[in-house]
Amino acid sequence: MREDIERVLIDEVVIEKRLDGMAAAIERDFPPGPLVVIILLKGALVFAADLLRRVARPIGIECLNVASYHGATTSCGKVDFLDRQFPEVRGRHVLLLDDILDTGRTLHAVIERLHEEGATAVRSAVLLAKDKPRAVTVSADYVGFEIGDEFVVGYGLDYLGRYRNLPFIGVLKAAVVARVGGS
Ligand code: XMP
Repeated sequence: MREDIERVLIDEVVIEKRLDGMAAAIERDFPPGPLVVIILLKGALVFAADLLRRVARPIGIECLNVASYHGATTSCGKVDFLDRQFPEVRGRHVLLLDDILDTGRTLHAVIERLHEEGATAVRSAVLLAKDKPRAVTVSADYVGFEIGDEFVVGYGLDYLGRYRNLPFIGVLKAAVVARVGGS
């Protein structure tokens, strides 16, 4: 797996240090009391596990399956909610976790749905945000790192289902993209 990586963009130590800061900001900003955390699967799993262990307050964890990428390196523009039931968020303060803010469509669609479902307040945290214009107007309240507009893998992020368990954020070799998914 490691041999498929062109370069490491953000290493594990740097990520862990940044998560300390994000967790402290989240604890500071949310009113005291329980919090519902919604994790967008599967990309935000690793980020969520490491971030939430740093947040010292009662939290309920829910996961949401949305499809916006369909396995390739470009967004298809449509966001599908794949779960039969939406988590109960009425009257709750919600923290939404996603791996990366790219076009913004995913975060925008999920935040809109959370408000429709009656959440009292919604804040969002992403590990990464691409430095590019968004297709929709949305921003995350907590951003781990701003990165350039390139496709990245690792730390939860995949390419065709692979590389999620790399402990760092990296850029794939062009030859790997051409070989595995370049049809
Ligand atoms: P949007 O465009 O809706 O995208 O903001 C959010 C979702 O798209 C996926 N995504 C990526 N996945 N490397 C990945 O592995 C990337 O560089 C990348 N850019 C977007 C991701 O699932 C994210 O939740």
